[in-house]
Amino acid sequence: MSQWIDACAPEDIDEEDLIAWDHNGQKIAIYNTEKGFFATDLMCTHEEQSLEDGLVIDCVIECPLHGGRFDICSGKALSSPVTVDLKTYPVELRDGRIWVQV
Ligand code: FES
Repeated sequence: MSQWIDACAPEDIDEEDLIAWDHNGQKIAIYNTEKGFFATDLMCTHEEQSLEDGLVIDCVIECPLHGGRFDICSGKALSSPVTVDLKTYPVELRDGRIWVQV
């Protein structure tokens, strides 16, 4: 059953950047983009590579290993070599904190 978890403060994430968040061993990326805060799985769907050091460009995350790109809002795989979408998680700003539904 999914639940809302208090993950971090908005100021913990620089603009156009992400942080890696570990919730009971579940690795999630939380992003600060021009369109707001979003969350996806942290690991690239191509190979077991963390997206933590990836590049955030507008609402796109580029994997640091082979340069595959995902849409941060939808998780959609955008460019080769990634073909499988990233799982996304609902995010809400509440009482000055970022909450993620996991
Ligand atoms: Fe991410 Fe290859 S591991 S594109």
